[in-house]
Amino acid sequence: MSGRILICDDEPGIRKTLGQILADEGYEVESVASGEEALSRLLTPGAAALFSALFLDVWLPDADGLAVLEKLRAGGVSLPVIVISGHGNVETAVHAVKKGAYDFLEKPLSLERVLLTLEKALEVADLFREREALRQLVSRGGDESLLGESPAMVKLVEDVRRAGASESRVLITGESGTGKELVARALHRSSPRAKGPFVEVNGAAIPEELIESELFGHVKGSFTGATEDRKGKWEQADGGTLFLDEIGDMSPKTQAKILRAIQDGRITRVGGARTIATDVRIVAATNRDLVKMIEDGTFREDLYYRLAVVPIRVPSLSERREDVPLLARHFAERLEARRGRRPKTFEPAALEKLSAKRFRGNVRELQNLVERLVLMSDGPVITAEDIPEDEGPGPKARPQLQEILPGQTLAEAREAFEKRVILQALQEQKGNVSRTAERLGLDRTTLHRKLRTYGIETDRD
Ligand SMILES: Nc1ncnc2c1ncn2[C@@H]1O[C@H](COP(=O)(O)OP(=O)(O)OP(=O)(O)O)[C@@H](O)[C@H]1O
Ligand SMILES: [Mg+2]
Repeated sequence: MSGRILICDDEPGIRKTLGQILADEGYEVESVASGEEALSRLLTPGAAALFSALFLDVWLPDADGLAVLEKLRAGGVSLPVIVISGHGNVETAVHAVKKGAYDFLEKPLSLERVLLTLEKALEVADLFREREALRQLVSRGGDESLLGESPAMVKLVEDVRRAGASESRVLITGESGTGKELVARALHRSSPRAKGPFVEVNGAAIPEELIESELFGHVKGSFTGATEDRKGKWEQADGGTLFLDEIGDMSPKTQAKILRAIQDGRITRVGGARTIATDVRIVAATNRDLVKMIEDGTFREDLYYRLAVVPIRVPSLSERREDVPLLARHFAERLEARRGRRPKTFEPAALEKLSAKRFRGNVRELQNLVERLVLMSDGPVITAEDIPEDEGPGPKARPQLQEILPGQTLAEAREAFEKRVILQALQEQKGNVSRTAERLGLDRTTLHRKLRTYGIETDRD
């Protein structure tokens, strides 16, 4: 363990023993004997950053430890503070924790508790700092934040941070509307190239005849309409990030050109003779199944491996339903802020219904729906009735039709089907055989016989 620790206690004995314990563990230690000294030590600009933690006595000759803590917090010092309390001071210490101390220790100090508490405090402070950094990363740029607190989202943001720091090429996959473009932008912002350009090329939006010139530029006269030399996106992205969106929609010819440019680190303008060196980081995205496309022969395997050095999968909204309320509120607030109005709120039942809804278009569909709800609903509150029902059968509601398996006789297929039906009914009736029999229109003896035949065990009747 390392770090510099400040001890603030008026008892020389405590300063000495505590200082010794910490020094033995490899910490650097400084001590002061009064609240005033602690404040002057920590409140000078930049000084607090030199320390990793503060041990603070509650009973100081010149000040109350609590007041010192308050002044530190007011001064923007976020250092973890461990309060040391004498006998009978525990209440004050608890109060200190409420005021933002990390923990308290009672005198006489136990070596073990001191070290354990300090280690935890430092760990928590680290996490906190990391979270802050993450928050900065995702929230900078207003509308570009990747919102969400679900485990899937936290992992995504973590992936983005890690991949962002590197120069590796990243392939972002995920269903339509999940936020792939946001991820690409976040990658750029968190990379050492953040100050460089972020340039996007969309493989689905640009006609095949134009894409090469769009990517690599052209020289004057190289084709009809090329009236002057033009830089392509690849060159424009020099020193920054080139986002190849919808890469799965690019033709084999374009794929070959991209592969070539990646391999060579150089590009040639359409109709041009000289090659131009570029320094770009490629981030690609697609909602297609590239692996399947490789099998079908429509996507180049060698390009895939070049692009997917770091693969990042963006979860669909159904994998993180718990984020729906947060997203819905965010979209409603953003829309109303733009219109300069007080945001409409959702009643809890509305958020619940929204969270259970099916969003094939993921976050984009949710966003569109929320904007529609905000515009269409009359009152200041959006209610459950305002939320439209899912249309058509959901994937779960659709009956599972299983075709006959190869080599299966009709009798075998019927048995397999019967077994599935019985199992499902049993599950619905929570294992109660009598009710299951009733539900299936069988008598109990018959059901028992079938259960034995199919080797289905039940523990309740
Ligand atoms: N985690 C999120 N937090 C806030 N907004 C989000 C989030 N994810 C997506 N959005 C919003 O949803 C919309 C769709 O996101 P984006 O365009 O990045 O999706 P995409 O995966 O690129 O979709 P497509 O495959 O259709 O191109 C955007 O308006 C974006 O701002
Ligand atoms: Mg997109």
